[in-house]
Amino acid sequence: MKKYILLILIISSLLYSQDSDGKKVFESYCWGCHHQTAVAFGPPFSEIASKRTQDEIEAYIIEPKAMYKAFGYKRTVMTELKLNDKERQAIAKYILSYKGK
Ligand code: HEC
Repeated sequence: MKKYILLILIISSLLYSQDSDGKKVFESYCWGCHHQTAVAFGPPFSEIASKRTQDEIEAYIIEPKAMYKAFGYKRTVMTELKLNDKERQAIAKYILSYKGK
C-alpha cells in the first residue's frame, strides 16, 4: 500500500512539474502576445486548443513562417522562438489544457 502511495506521489509531482514548466515557458515567451482565454495580439490558448493538435502547435512554434498559410493566416507576425524540445512539448500541453475553457 505504501508503495502505491509513493508511486502516486511521484507521478503527480511529475505531472505537476510538466504543467509548471509549460506555465513558465508561457510567462517567459508567449505572454506578451497570447493570453490563456482572452484575445491579445495573437489568438487565446483556449481557441488554439479547440482546433489544433499537439503536433500542429509544436510545428507552429518551430516555424510560423512555414505553417501560417496552412493555418489560414494571410501573414505571420509571430516571432520564431528558440525553445528546446522539452519547453516546446510543455507549452503545447499547456495550451491544450485550455481546451473548452
Ligand atoms: C510577437 C508576438 C507573439 C509571440 C511572442 C508569440 N506569438 Fe504565437 N502568434 C502570434 C500571432 C499574431 C499569431 C497569429 C498568426 C501569426 O501572426 O503567426 C500567433 C499564432 C500562434 C499559433 C497558431 C494559432 C492557431 O491558429 O492555431 C500558435 C500555436 C502560437 N501562436 C503559439 C505561441 C506560443 C506557444 C508562444 C510562446 C512560446 C507564442 N505563440 C509567442 C503572436 C505571437
